[in-house]
Amino acid sequence: MRFPPIVAACPHFLHGGDYNPEQWIKWKDAIWKEDMRLAKLAGINSFSIGIFSWSVLEPHEGEYRFEWLDEVMDMLADNGIIAVLATPSGARPAWMSKKYPEVLRVNAQRQRNIFGGRQNHCLSSPVYREKTGAVNALLAERYKNHPALGVWHISNEFGGDCHCPLCQERFRSYLKEKYKTLEALNEAWWGTFWSHAYSEWDEIESPSPLGDQVFHGLNLEWKRFTTEQFVDFYLHETAPMRKFTPRVPCTTNLMGTYPGIDYFRLAEALDVAAVDSYPRWTGGEGDIEVGVRTAFCHDLTRGLKGRPFMLIESCPTATSWQAVLKLRRPGVHMLQSMQAVAHGSDTVQYFQFRKSRGSSEKFHGAVVDHEGSENTRVFKDVAAVGEQLKTLDALAGADTPSRAAILYDWNVRWALDDAKGFLQNKTDYEGTVISHYRAFWSTGIPVDVIDSTRSFDKYDLLVSPMLYMLRDGTADRINDFVERGGTYAATYCTGYVDSTDLCFLGGFPGPLKETLGIWNEEIDALFPEDTNSIQWQGKSYPVFGLCELIHTRGAESLAVYGGDFYAGMPALTVNRRGKGRAYYIAARTGTEFLTDFYRALASEAGVKPLLEAPLPEGVTVQARNNGETEFVFVMNFSPVPQTVDAGGAGMLNLAPFGVRIIERPN
Ligand code: GLA
Ligand code: ZN
Repeated sequence: MRFPPIVAACPHFLHGGDYNPEQWIKWKDAIWKEDMRLAKLAGINSFSIGIFSWSVLEPHEGEYRFEWLDEVMDMLADNGIIAVLATPSGARPAWMSKKYPEVLRVNAQRQRNIFGGRQNHCLSSPVYREKTGAVNALLAERYKNHPALGVWHISNEFGGDCHCPLCQERFRSYLKEKYKTLEALNEAWWGTFWSHAYSEWDEIESPSPLGDQVFHGLNLEWKRFTTEQFVDFYLHETAPMRKFTPRVPCTTNLMGTYPGIDYFRLAEALDVAAVDSYPRWTGGEGDIEVGVRTAFCHDLTRGLKGRPFMLIESCPTATSWQAVLKLRRPGVHMLQSMQAVAHGSDTVQYFQFRKSRGSSEKFHGAVVDHEGSENTRVFKDVAAVGEQLKTLDALAGADTPSRAAILYDWNVRWALDDAKGFLQNKTDYEGTVISHYRAFWSTGIPVDVIDSTRSFDKYDLLVSPMLYMLRDGTADRINDFVERGGTYAATYCTGYVDSTDLCFLGGFPGPLKETLGIWNEEIDALFPEDTNSIQWQGKSYPVFGLCELIHTRGAESLAVYGGDFYAGMPALTVNRRGKGRAYYIAARTGTEFLTDFYRALASEAGVKPLLEAPLPEGVTVQARNNGETEFVFVMNFSPVPQTVDAGGAGMLNLAPFGVRIIERPN
């Protein structure tokens, strides 16, 4: 199927990115004009503007200057370029911080920041809300009918938190609303531990190195509250956009697996999901792992709304905040751009168009270098992507069908990161989910990445690595999924705590015991030098890190531990339930086991890889389907040439970091 385009007037891929004409305002007659010429040459049809423009838009309190932006908007429209127009709240003018210190953030040590940086504002401050509301309303009203306006870009990279008195007040109101009574809160947070029961709401303080950092219920609610603060702030910012331009989509740029905000919750407020992607490409073998991680983030971003997303920032070459400014190797820019498209992006956008002349991003890769012409390698790489995107019009809005899903859940991550025990700081939820994801990536089986609040209805195969926290209702929904015929795989560290981070009593995996047909009695954490193994289908696979000692209670044991005092105990089980099956992997396993295991599981569940023949190491296949044609992207993330057996499409030769797209009628 095909989703409607992100910008109604533009049924094409958006190609472009951050453009900061205000940095060149003094030289605008020459530079802006030249920018339009270069944009055309690079096949650019969209620019994100105004992201950090507040001090130019409102140089003094209440004194607005929109003339320059009028000129930029008109110039974009004249050149057929769509504006992804930002609200300026990501950073603010110095006068505001000076006159109204309450707009500044307070850190966990209860110190108020001074002017500077970005995302340095209090999310509760009435003054900041008033100021953002005012400038946003002026933007929305002024440009509501402007032909260039395509998308609203709200703020920039929401992140961090604020511990000021106003935020503490809102936190307490949030808790009151949620728990109703202190008794209920004290119970949910296990307040009798370390004498932590509260007797008045105003005794509650956000987590701090000066006070509590290991009070799990508090930590968890603070993260949830911070997410709600961003949702609320986003809704505040978008209110004028909704009023004046109800049909213009709003978004904000997200950061992959950024841990501070539950993006699945935030996404409920977004019209379209958008992601900033800065992979640390190595130029060598390491790019296979980088490719897997990047693919995961794209699938996760797509999973937020279950439809095409925006790659709203990426870099055509070296990224200045990374430790090593390695240039993109030939082919890599095309590969990373097509990778995003293959995984469901309807845009390829960069930070930034023209390289900044001063300050910390002056050496950050950009489309146009300080040299200023179209005669650079990077410019040509970008222009090639522009050309390529024009040939893919039939693909814009196309779905990325998948019958398998992997769960990635921010609440689980928060609780696991907090959990003392097991492997302390090496529990590595994110890395573990990605290691399971990798098995699908390297087999060429497309997957959706969703959290436990999303529907499982359209899937045949569901995988939930380390689903440590089972939020209310999740176990029932997983059980229904299995009973109606789904194939489900869970792992060690599943079903330990409920949605308030209290341990389930009566044995783990808590409310999934029946579904999985097992009881997990103990978990063994191994030192790096310790090894064990599991024997499965006549092969021995290493296991490491975490091994659970489980008992079957209805499930069948498929593999056992090879060593230690629990040799012979089940390490892999299956429980037949209703029309489906529920598998349990009791120990942390490596790539080889996961690949063999999921290949077998997918085949049992009738979920087929996109190509029949096995793929060479470092090669993946992903697809988009517009209802008539399936576009299959064959991508080589290894630094050596590869040959892929593409069935009916013959043998495909892929250059190092090469990509080929084949079309198959449905
Ligand atoms: C982030 C920001 C951009 C820019 C880039 C540089 O993604 O949103 O403004 O600073 O980083 O990589
Ligand atoms: Zn605050």
